[in-house]
Amino acid sequence: ENVSSLPSRPPVVTIMGHVDHGKTTLLDWLRKSSVAAQEHGGITQHIGAFVVKMSAGKHITFLDTPGHAAFLSMRQRGANVTDIVVLVVAADDSVMPQTVEAIKHATSAKVPIIVAINKIDKEDARVDQVKADLARHGVEIEDFGGDVQVVCVSGKTGQGMADLEENIITLSEILDVRAEYNGMAEGWILESRVKQNGKVATVLVKRGTLRPGDLIIAGKTWARIRVLRNEAGIELSEAPPGTPVEILGWRELPDAGEQVLQAPDEGKAKTAVEYRMEMAEREESSVQLA
Ligand code: GTP
Ligand code: NA
Ligand code: MG
Repeated sequence: ENVSSLPSRPPVVTIMGHVDHGKTTLLDWLRKSSVAAQEHGGITQHIGAFVVKMSAGKHITFLDTPGHAAFLSMRQRGANVTDIVVLVVAADDSVMPQTVEAIKHATSAKVPIIVAINKIDKEDARVDQVKADLARHGVEIEDFGGDVQVVCVSGKTGQGMADLEENIITLSEILDVRAEYNGMAEGWILESRVKQNGKVATVLVKRGTLRPGDLIIAGKTWARIRVLRNEAGIELSEAPPGTPVEILGWRELPDAGEQVLQAPDEGKAKTAVEYRMEMAEREESSVQLA
C-alpha cells in the first residue's frame, strides 16, 4: 500500500541467511546501538521481532528469520510481511543451502535485498568468493552492475555496521511504506508459544491499530486481547501498522503463519472460527472418502 495519502509506517526488515552466519549477532548490534534499546534500559527478552529507533531518528521494525514453515505459509497467502531482506552471508562459509532459500524467498516475493557479508574479521574470509557465489545464484550485486548493495561487516568488531545501518535507512526512505491506521486491523502471526502466563503469540500488525479489548481471529482460534506488549515486555496501549507485538488472551494457541483479522464483536469472532472449523472437518472427511 504505497498510497501517498496514507501515513507512513515503519518499514519491516527481515534478517535472513544460513544457520550460524550471524543473523542474531547483527540484529543485537543494531538493537544495542539504537536509542530505543537505551530507553528500555537493555534487553530483557528476545522474541526476534522489535522496533528500533535508528540514530537517524527513523523507526524500523526488525525480524529475525521467521521459521521456514511460517514464512512459507504467509507467502502462500500472498502476504508480504517484509519490505526489505538483509541477507547475511558469512565470509568464511559463503553461500549455503539456507542462503539460497532466502534468495528464493526474497526474489519470489519481489522484496529488495541488502547483502551483509559478515565475519570479515576472520582470517579465512573470502569476500570475492562470496560475491561470485551470490552472482551465480542470481543476486544482482552492485559489483557486477546490478543494484543490490553489498556491505562487508563484522558482528564481532562492529566494522561496517554503520554502513549497513545507513543502507537500510536509505532503502527504507526510497520504499516510503505507508498504511491505513484506522479501520479493522489485519496482521500475521510470527511466532506462538505457551508461557507461564498463558498462550502468547507475536503478531505483526499490517494495517489498522490493535488495542487491549479488541477481538481478533487467527486460523481456528480467537482472542480478546488481554495484554499487548513489546519485546522488552513493556505493555502497550496500542499497536499501529508495522509494529510487532506479543498478544495474550487466546482461547487456543494460534499457529505461526496464520493471518490475524479483527472482528467487530465476540459473536462474529466465534461464528467465523466455527465456520473455519466446519470447513476444515469437511475437507478432512472428503480426503478420507477419496
Ligand atoms: P542461527 O539463528 O542459529 O541460524 O544463527 P545466526 O545466524 O543467528 O548466528 P549467530 O548470530 O548466532 O552467530 C553464530 C556464531 O558466529 C556465534 O558464535 C557468533 O558469535 C559468531 N559470529 C557472528 N558474527 C561474527 C563475526 O562477525 N565474526 C566472528 N568471528 N564471529 C561471528
Ligand atoms: Na546460531
Ligand atoms: Mg539466530
